[in-house]
Amino acid sequence: MKILVTGAGGMLGQALVARLHADGHGVRAHDRTPLRTSPTDDRVFGDLRDLTGLGPLLAGVDAVVHAAATPDPLREDVFDNNVGSTYHLLDAAGALGVGRIVYVSSLSAVGLAWSGRGATPLRLPLPEDHPYVGDDPYGLSKHVGELVTATVSRRHGIPAVSLRFPFIGTGERLRHHLAHVQADPGGDRGALWSWIDTRDAAGAVVAALTRPVDGHAVVTVAAPDTTALRPTAELISRYHPKSVVTEPLEGFAVPVSTRLSRDLLDFTPAHTWRRA
Ligand SMILES: NC(=O)c1ccc[n+]([C@@H]2O[C@H](COP(=O)([O-])OP(=O)(O)OC[C@H]3O[C@@H](n4cnc5c(N)ncnc54)[C@H](O)[C@@H]3O)[C@@H](O)[C@H]2O)c1
Repeated sequence: MKILVTGAGGMLGQALVARLHADGHGVRAHDRTPLRTSPTDDRVFGDLRDLTGLGPLLAGVDAVVHAAATPDPLREDVFDNNVGSTYHLLDAAGALGVGRIVYVSSLSAVGLAWSGRGATPLRLPLPEDHPYVGDDPYGLSKHVGELVTATVSRRHGIPAVSLRFPFIGTGERLRHHLAHVQADPGGDRGALWSWIDTRDAAGAVVAALTRPVDGHAVVTVAAPDTTALRPTAELISRYHPKSVVTEPLEGFAVPVSTRLSRDLLDFTPAHTWRRA
């Protein structure tokens, strides 16, 4: 398969390009910042909002993994950049007959993670069909990105998956995040103490590219355990006392439903930060 990866110079994009390349796929790596370390020869430089570049960018591509975004709720152009680039890229991909779209979404698409008013989930573990409750521009941009992906899927008849990732990290980035969350678990209440190792995030993208899918599916992917040192039930009763808990959450179980990632994508994360 020839796969276009956008955001290929970013934290996740670099891991995606390396994984897809190692799996034997042809990869076209795109970013607006120069790609120095990409293992593929097919690198394209440009801004996705420059519509004149989209035809050549998509020529000969079988599938698109759209990871480019500004992942920062404080940047002023976050909505324009993320939504504009997603719409124009994915609609052009659909019109040109690309066979599969994987949109790299975020758990922030529900609106909890960056909520300025401390939004709380209605029910836990958080299901994919939880209503959008957001009040921040980044979460809104990822939520609209999922709607764009669904629209393009229906408009052009393309199977598509929006993967909702929690915090993504490995190595030093993960260690830093763990220390931060463990020192102040209340600061991560909106993100529900969820995380995924970068290598597993890349594995989930591979599953979303290759498993049979009808239409568009929103799928949450997360490690089975939290980043926290306190049991999940204790965290929920302290930080989300109004949430209805619909299933038992034993030990450090992540309070986010990952059933669909198992059932639809046959995907199970391999990495944990806890010692056995
Ligand atoms: N980092 C996380 O923990 C996390 C969690 C959940 C979801 N995500 C999602 O994963 C994706 C990748 O995130 P990341 O952490 O690797 O971010 P990153 O900032 O490291 O990489 C994003 C890349 O996208 C590129 N980009 C952005 N807008 C562009 C445009 N208009 N044209 C061309 N290139 C553009 C940037 O130059 C950058 O290299 C994003 O879609 C983000 O929303 C990230």
